[in-house]
Amino acid sequence: MKMRALVTGANGLVGGRLVRLLASRGHEVFAMGRGHQRVLPSPPHGEETIPQYVSGDLGDTDGLAQSLREIRADVVINCAAMTDVDGCEREPSHAYTANVEGVATLARSARALDSHLLQVSTDYVFDGDAGPYDVDAIPNPRGVYAITKHMGEEAVRALCPRGKWTIARTAVVYGWPSTGKNNFGSWLIEALGAGKTVKLFTDQRVTPSHAGNVAEMLAELAERRMAGIWHTSGADVVDRVSFGQKLCARFGFDPSLIHPSKMADLNLPTPRPAKSGLNVSRTLEALGAKPLGIDAALDRFYAEYKGSTS
Ligand SMILES: NC(=O)c1ccc[n+]([C@@H]2O[C@H](COP(=O)([O-])OP(=O)(O)OC[C@H]3O[C@@H](n4cnc5c(N)ncnc54)[C@H](OP(=O)(O)O)[C@@H]3O)[C@@H](O)[C@H]2O)c1
Repeated sequence: MKMRALVTGANGLVGGRLVRLLASRGHEVFAMGRGHQRVLPSPPHGEETIPQYVSGDLGDTDGLAQSLREIRADVVINCAAMTDVDGCEREPSHAYTANVEGVATLARSARALDSHLLQVSTDYVFDGDAGPYDVDAIPNPRGVYAITKHMGEEAVRALCPRGKWTIARTAVVYGWPSTGKNNFGSWLIEALGAGKTVKLFTDQRVTPSHAGNVAEMLAELAERRMAGIWHTSGADVVDRVSFGQKLCARFGFDPSLIHPSKMADLNLPTPRPAKSGLNVSRTLEALGAKPLGIDAALDRFYAEYKGSTS
């Protein structure tokens, strides 16, 4: 059934793709982004409807609530967040405004309007000591980004009625083209493609997630109003060096450009989960849009890259 969907974070990596995907399926889509509309990636199969762009800021409580009242969406999908992990550490009040207060505003408005709220979250809600994590594992966030994203989850659970909320966690999302800001995959392509060396961690295990695949899972969760917590990442757990080597093999880049390093070598200002990643077995069973294994995901990533350069 066609739905009226509001997607926030429409200028971002996941939100931009989700907007185009929903429009290609004939849904009525309102794309909310901060400031003016920026280029959205091409739709997968042509667009049936034209998304309507709305400017909105998660920090503008009144404006956000007003936009939601005007749009009266069946489903609100929140892909907007302050995602710069070190930036959140430097500017905790900005992180709190976007990742907690903004989410609470969306949740209160969704409740008042009887809309379903789908909140996109992260594997960072877990400490990364014993991943990959099941959907019902106990969060233990470390660092401002992680803590505020977890508080956003809690706001959704507290403020939205039972059956009217979904939390979809994802992890290390990559896609081509990037949306102005490099992501893990686009950074690797640009550096390795130019013959530059990259330092990748041997001691961080993650579930890399192809952005188009994430958008497909989010779209299905929204279309079917599947409530509760879902893990919407890639299916395979790998360390970053192994991911880089697989990417080199698929793209024809020189794998000796990858220099293995340890997280401690970089003296990062914010803790990063070491044994992270999400267990997607429940998603694999329940969704038609399956989390992709790493080889299938890299095939799609490569096809997108070649399509944009030919
Ligand atoms: N990328 C990953 O590796 C990753 C991993 C795990 C979970 N996630 C989650 O996935 C979701 C989507 O992230 P993404 O990868 O698409 O990140 P992204 O590319 O950084 O997109 C986030 C969007 O949120 C917008 N935004 C930030 N602060 C805002 C505010 N105060 N008001 C309105 N919009 C604001 C940004 O706007 P501007 O474009 O104007 O900056 C940006 O377009 C987020 O919830 C994130 O926490 C991402």
